[in-house]
Amino acid sequence: YEVTWSASAAEKGGYEHFMLKEIHEQPKAIRDTLTGRISEDGQRVVFDEIQWPENFAQNIDRIHIVACGTSWHAGMVGAAALEKLTRIPVSCEIASEYRYRDPIITENTLMIIITQSGETADTLAALREAKARGTRVVAITNVVGSSAAREADDVVFTWAGPEISVASTKAYTTQLISLYLFAGWLAEQRGSVGATQVPEILAALRELPELAEKALGTSDEVKAFANEWASKEHAFFIGRGLDYAVSLEGSLKLKEISYMHAEAYAAGELKHGTLALIVEDVPVVALVTQDDLYDKTLSNIIEVKTRDAYVLGIAWEDDKEIAKSVDRVIRIPRTLPFLAPVLAVIPLQLLAYYASTARGNDVDNPRNLAKSVTVE
Ligand code: G6P
Repeated sequence: YEVTWSASAAEKGGYEHFMLKEIHEQPKAIRDTLTGRISEDGQRVVFDEIQWPENFAQNIDRIHIVACGTSWHAGMVGAAALEKLTRIPVSCEIASEYRYRDPIITENTLMIIITQSGETADTLAALREAKARGTRVVAITNVVGSSAAREADDVVFTWAGPEISVASTKAYTTQLISLYLFAGWLAEQRGSVGATQVPEILAALRELPELAEKALGTSDEVKAFANEWASKEHAFFIGRGLDYAVSLEGSLKLKEISYMHAEAYAAGELKHGTLALIVEDVPVVALVTQDDLYDKTLSNIIEVKTRDAYVLGIAWEDDKEIAKSVDRVIRIPRTLPFLAPVLAVIPLQLLAYYASTARGNDVDNPRNLAKSVTVE
């Protein structure tokens, strides 16, 4: 397939690894992905390239998001965003499961596949399966000319630029941006109640490049912490709602490049088994960006603190309570809780990166893993 960037543009640009460069490129990648998507008056989402048959938007009765790996994690956030704004039931599934389970697809099903490379075998197979059954497929992809871009009915490009490091970072954040935009657009198309929130969301999205830059300012703090933590063998990530979705991605990042064993848990589910593993000094990363779930997550933090876990909180800059309940806090700039994943993931990417370098691993080429999995 066609490559849309030059080899020189893909150099490390002064960074030690592609991953660190790509983490730092996120403000620009977010800005580029937003370009052209917001109407001049700031009130509407623009997706002029999507030309659906009349009434299709209105008739959609379920949405299937299908992806693998980090893209699947982005889909988890996208599912929540779509349900919130459109009130259409959304499922988000792993492609290698979806394709073999005879999913219920009707002409009113919308399928969204998310794939950075546009070449992941299981994701493409799921796309083909759904298309054969007559559903419309939107692909969210980073590669112009990729198989996903060619085969889907509609394509939404993320403008992350080339992502070289096996561990995905800027592709994830730009997938999130695309999903938020798409959710807002679909709400507008259907005249959903959620459409009234779109102008506020768009205003907040516009600020994200600058806020992502600020979130990158946590780098030194995260590095110091990662150096202390690097000798640990296990870590847990907990959160509720969107914080749980980000926990999944934080834990995957840590596993794939630092080789530390990490698990993500919905904070409320801990007590149903995993709490047995929480003993003295076990590292727990607790995300607390969802204001409406704050007290609930806090009580889970107290549960793990009672077992003497070492808790790192990821919290808003203006959270005055959290420091009393955790051992350390990394703070992210304020935005709408709905958009928190875009900023909350940044210190988690940095944590994985610095844990990996502290352990002397090959950050950009982790063992056993490939950037694009084109076989089954
Ligand atoms: C591989 C990569 C992951 C990626 C996944 C899906 O496993 O190592 O970083 O998330 O494939 O890739 P895709 O290109 O479909 O997003």
